[in-house]
Amino acid sequence: MRIAELAIPDQVKELILQSGITELYPPQEEAIRAGALEGKNLVLASPTASGKTLVAEFCCLKHVLEKNGKAIYLAPLRALASEKFDDFQRFAKLQKPNGQLVNIGISTGDFDSGDPWLGRYDIIITTNEKADSLLRHRAKWMDEISLVVADEVHLLNEAERGPTLEVVLARLMQVNPAMQVLALSATMGNVDEVAAWLKAQYVITEWRPVTLKEGVLLHDEIQFKDGGARKIDRKTSNDAVNLALNTVKTGGQALVFASTRKNASSLARKIADQTYKELSKLAKKGLEHEAAKVRAADEKTQLSESLAELVECGTAFHHAGLAGAHRKIIEDLFRQGKIKVLTATPTLAFGMNLPARIVIVQDYRRYEAGYGYYPISVLEYKQMAGRAGRPKYDKNGESILIAKNADEQDYLMDNFVLARPERIWSRLAVEKILRGHVLATVASDFAHTENGVYEFFGRTFYAHQYDVKAIKSVITKILKYLYNEQMLYIDKENLCATKFGKRVSELYIDPVSAVTIRDALKRQPPQLTELSMLHLITHTPDMGPVMRPYGEEIEKIAIQMEQHREELFVPPPNEWEDQIAFQEYLGEIKTAIILKEWIEETTEEHMLEKHRVQPGDLYRIIENGKWLLHATQELAELLKEKEMLPLIHELNERVAKGIKKELLPIVKLEGIGRTRGRILYNAGYHNMEDFKRATLEDLTNLPTIGPQLAKKIKEQIGGFVKKAEWEQLEKGEEWNQKALSDF
Ligand SMILES: Nc1ncnc2c1ncn2[C@@H]1O[C@H](COP(=O)(O)OP(=O)(O)OP(=O)(O)O)[C@@H](O)[C@H]1O
Ligand SMILES: [Mg+2]
Repeated sequence: MRIAELAIPDQVKELILQSGITELYPPQEEAIRAGALEGKNLVLASPTASGKTLVAEFCCLKHVLEKNGKAIYLAPLRALASEKFDDFQRFAKLQKPNGQLVNIGISTGDFDSGDPWLGRYDIIITTNEKADSLLRHRAKWMDEISLVVADEVHLLNEAERGPTLEVVLARLMQVNPAMQVLALSATMGNVDEVAAWLKAQYVITEWRPVTLKEGVLLHDEIQFKDGGARKIDRKTSNDAVNLALNTVKTGGQALVFASTRKNASSLARKIADQTYKELSKLAKKGLEHEAAKVRAADEKTQLSESLAELVECGTAFHHAGLAGAHRKIIEDLFRQGKIKVLTATPTLAFGMNLPARIVIVQDYRRYEAGYGYYPISVLEYKQMAGRAGRPKYDKNGESILIAKNADEQDYLMDNFVLARPERIWSRLAVEKILRGHVLATVASDFAHTENGVYEFFGRTFYAHQYDVKAIKSVITKILKYLYNEQMLYIDKENLCATKFGKRVSELYIDPVSAVTIRDALKRQPPQLTELSMLHLITHTPDMGPVMRPYGEEIEKIAIQMEQHREELFVPPPNEWEDQIAFQEYLGEIKTAIILKEWIEETTEEHMLEKHRVQPGDLYRIIENGKWLLHATQELAELLKEKEMLPLIHELNERVAKGIKKELLPIVKLEGIGRTRGRILYNAGYHNMEDFKRATLEDLTNLPTIGPQLAKKIKEQIGGFVKKAEWEQLEKGEEWNQKALSDF
């Protein structure tokens, strides 16, 4: 089917034709034939790279340009949301019937906001979590959505993300019964079941535009699915490194999947040693420049420094622990071919269009505390594999698993390469996960009776697969809990949320975290300190896994716990009665101590070494710390615990930046964080007045302050930079790297 024949506005056709696409791919054609452009609900299940996005784009534009509608595009991960946002930008020049241009928005952060500004966009791209939080705030514009695109809908199967996605879809369908649902998915065992749940037609295809050769590497030979084989050079003892290096040597780029952040960064380091040797002088020079961008993009941290060093070698790692600015730079550098090898956690496994000639799946196992190692699903493996051989970049692609012996090679061939993706299952029926969703159902006015709540959960994928009766008892138990904890009350026959309940739901925290915080705030410890607050938040379930002390550290942490006992909101459990709870509690204390050291400006190196934690974990603790302190502050305000507010507020700002109190006035400036803030402070800049008196040169004489930043500082405080002064600086010296290498 040709683009010209499609029932879409002419201006869309022109734009698509200009981009070089003239014919539909077969799966796209089938989707159109199944009624995608006529507003029919549809599940499009087809292999990676088969062009599912284009169908979604046509539908979005059909709604916006012809039906005066509004579309929401749900992407499971931030990296994907941002890629789709960039892709959609090409439609921003199209004109709506009222003469205005198509407006595309993205929102993935801050879960405690209804983002009313999003209302002015026609196509809104969000993550599933953000969409859930927007629904909790009952953002008005959501009632106007006429199309929802659920990308990577097979992720319904994921323990963490799946339940959010099914609740979001169920709610959107409840609010807008006439809305069109377009779900995009990989091929999976039970497409028909997902389609039946969404009251949708379905299309299943096996077609892929670019050949993807899947195989397994054992030592120096890859065995392919089709019976072929290929030898590779073995330069090191690590087969993933060798394979990546072979690809780079033949002018290709490699994407390597590792199971954890730690594995991704340590593997990148091993690869970098080798790729560096392959780089030309010119390439090295260019990469030095890119590394400088990484260094300047955000405050200097151990993570950003190690990333910058890797970039200099044409390699990088990518995981959710990277700051947003860094993530974007790395994705772009890989797209531009400047980075040759990228190691990643599964954050890049879904939907991304990247120029990887080869995907190397280093770990096919995942580790879960208390559960041990388990093999990943075929579905996930196929997603990782599918990042190779994307039509925009390559004529063919390879995806290779790594085996240690012949037995394992057979196992991997049979259970991944030749295997069929499994069925997917709803993961909603977990009390911890359901709690927040049950509260939100009442708090955001989706139901006002017990039966109404059951009726809502009766619309979920879980109920479709199993029957709502199977979770009724859990929901009843949760409703009782929420009632007892005064988040819900009964008014005549109606179930309503209290102010407290409503706020907890909006804050997007587990009701158990909220109860922990509320109860603590009511009975303060004898001595209220920073550590009191920090331990309180590490004690909540929303902090996630705490940092358990290692062998020799246990004693030290236990002593510190004793020393600070008077400061703790929640007393320790009895060590002899409950060993496990006690160990967990020590982990909370250790995590709180880490946060305390962070705001005392202890260097990251020192903290990471002393406590044996990973940079990615430190980042997570800080991120969750900020979010929970925000929640604590909001709850304290609501509960009128006024005297604690200044302390919480100050802590929130300090945790966000990792600074002592004295730096607070100057880190408000953009580009100034803990490292530069400390340098400036020590040089006598304590407030805005001090900056006003400084010349550009005064500032650039300090380490880590380049001319761009100095200018930015002056401009932010309303200072005026004289043209002559600026020119002289620019001419006189290229900002030398001396400063950075100083520390
Ligand atoms: N009809 C077409 N002709 C040529 N190229 C196309 C066509 N449709 C899509 N493409 C290109 O194919 C590439 C892959 O498309 P897309 O990202 O939509 O795949 P996908 O099916 O969503 O894969 P995944 O399951 O990995 O998310 C894109 O670069 C897109 O521009
Ligand atoms: Mg896709």
